Formats: sequence, structure tokens, C-alpha cells
Amino acid sequence: MSITVENVEKNFGSVQALKPTNLEIGSGEFISLVGPSGCGKTTLLRTIAGLELPDDGKLTLIDRVVFSKPDGIDVPAENRGVGMVFQDFALWPHLTVFENVAFGLRARKDTDRLKERVQWALSRVQLAGYDDRYPKQLSGGQQQRVSFARAIVTEPKIILLDEPLSALDAVLREGLRLMLRSLANELGLTAVYVTHDQHEAMSISDRIVVMRDGVMLQRGIPEEVYNKPNQLFIAEFVGKTNFLPESNGTAPGELKMTRPERLTVQRQSKQDLEFTGVVEMVSYVGDRYEAHLDVEGKKWVVYFEERPDEGDRVTLYLAPKFVHTIKEETE
Ligand SMILES: Nc1ncnc2c1ncn2[C@@H]1O[C@H](COP(=O)(O)OP(=O)(O)O)[C@@H](O)[C@H]1O
Ligand SMILES: [Mg+2]
Repeated sequence: MSITVENVEKNFGSVQALKPTNLEIGSGEFISLVGPSGCGKTTLLRTIAGLELPDDGKLTLIDRVVFSKPDGIDVPAENRGVGMVFQDFALWPHLTVFENVAFGLRARKDTDRLKERVQWALSRVQLAGYDDRYPKQLSGGQQQRVSFARAIVTEPKIILLDEPLSALDAVLREGLRLMLRSLANELGLTAVYVTHDQHEAMSISDRIVVMRDGVMLQRGIPEEVYNKPNQLFIAEFVGKTNFLPESNGTAPGELKMTRPERLTVQRQSKQDLEFTGVVEMVSYVGDRYEAHLDVEGKKWVVYFEERPDEGDRVTLYLAPKFVHTIKEETE
């Protein structure tokens, strides 16, 4: 294991930001922590980094215990061997790109082959030749790439990223997401990526962990969490959810759901379930039409290749294997 979190918890006064939490992350794994604002993502990340002191538990990074409440171990952040990237870039405005990237190496008096290593890091993020610029002379995306370079220049095995793309516009985010993922692969990094954006989490990660109120609710590969959410909150958080009418054999305490892209207007097989809905609203989103339908009193989202008309009655088909059952929460 690259990262092992055992019963780690963190309170801020009466706020239980992180309830006792366990998590194992394998070497080279790219994992995302996803969940609504305030659910404890940053707290967990900062705890791993050593920027936040947990109230209890044990943390192991690559076979080295860096925090243990019972054993009184607390390795300072700068000696944990992790690279960190923040949402607001956190660059020094009065230092050049080169000096921003070199900063951590100089602080540690680790200046052997300094120039070569800084230039290696800058070239990995496609910023070769930008050494002498100041942060304010760069675009937001370039500034964030400088902060990636700064995180990798010390050649850490683990990189922790807290909403690194949230301050950037959508097109830039997608490009940087791909860059980050391939950088992590090429360098063999173990990555923990915090985001409140479930699409970003699913597209970049080997595995995602969904959090709420300081608790990890579900963890798994993106396909599993998306297609088989273990509770209503997750179903609705990670994607658009269509609940089947009760007439489809839903037992008390159960919800049956599917995802919009599973519904078709043509029958694919004899076993397909059949529904009739009325189109209430249609929006064009470029690659398809997204329609809101009323299906036996349930509000569904369905995708169409051709524009349906509002008021149309349409028949929809669904393969039984795409029906997922959730046990209703009892809280
Ligand atoms: N330094 C702090 N002092 C007091 N409360 C904090 C502090 N940091 C975080 N919290 C609280 O802990 C909870 C989790 O916060 P955080 O980990 O930042 O959530 P997220 O990153 O998922 O948005 C929130 O209720 C937040 O208000
Ligand atoms: Mg946060």
C-alpha cells in the first residue's frame, strides 16, 4: 500500500470534520475524494499531507508511519515526501516561475543539479522556456501548471491535489485533467484528488470515494459507483437518476432506478421493460436532446437523437440488467 489511513479522525471544536476513517490506496493508484462542500475532503487531504493534526488514528505513507496518536508520531509535512497542489495555485507573486518551482528544493537545501531538475519539472508540464516569467504574466492554466511542476520537482511518490482545476474554465479544465492523469501515470505517482465535481472524479480516477458529513459512504471504480450506488444520496450526486414507477415491482423500502442513457426508443429484446412517458421539456445540448418526461408520475430525463416535441407520448425500453435497486436510507 502507498497510503494507509487507519481510524483517523479530526474535529474542529464541535464539528466532526472527519469521523473515524479507514482507507487504503495502492501504489500508483489515482483516487478521487468526491462529495458536497463541507463533507471533509480537504480535511482528509490536509491530514495526509501533515498540514492538519488529526485527533486520533494512524497514517502510513509507503511503509513509513507518519502519524500515530497512540505512539506519539507526527512527521512534519515537509518530511512526508508528498507533493501538494492547491486550488488557488499558491504561487509566490514576487518570484519567477523558475524560483517558484525551485523554492521547495532551496528550502530543503537540496540544490544539487537544481537547474536541471527545475527545468525537467517545467518541461513535464509543457512550460519549458517560461523560467523567467512572473506568475502574473501567465494565464490561470499556466499558473496551475507551474504549481504541478513545483509539486513534482522533489520527485515525490505521492501527490495530493485539492480541487486543482476548480478555478479554471471548462475547456482548460478538461485539457489539464488529461495532462494530470498522464503525468501521474508516467511518473508512477499515487494520487489523491479532491473535487466536488463528480464528472471530473469519474473521468480521472481509478477509484472514487464518495463522502458526506465526514464519512466515506461508498468507494469503488467509477462504473460501480455510477451504476450501482449504495444509497439514494449517491445515486443523485453522481448522475441523473430515473426512478421506476412502483408498478415495476418495487418492494417497500426499496427504490429501483436506472440512468438516462440506458433507455432506448427501440425495443432491443423481448425481455425489455416498457414505459410510456409524456415529454414535458426538451433542451438541445449539442450532442443530443435531453428531455424531461413524466413517466407514471415519475420525473425522468431521457436522451434523444432527434428532437421530440413537448406533449409527445413516447414509449421507452429498458433492459432489465440496467435496473439497479437501492435500499432506502432509514435515517
Ligand atoms: N480550520 C477549520 N476550523 C473550523 N472548522 C473547519 C476548519 N476546516 C474545516 N472546517 C469544517 O470542517 C468541515 C469539513 O470541511 P472541509 O474538509 O474543508 O470540507 P470540503 O473540503 O469537503 O469542502 C466543514 O464543516 C468545515 O466548516
Ligand atoms: Mg475543500
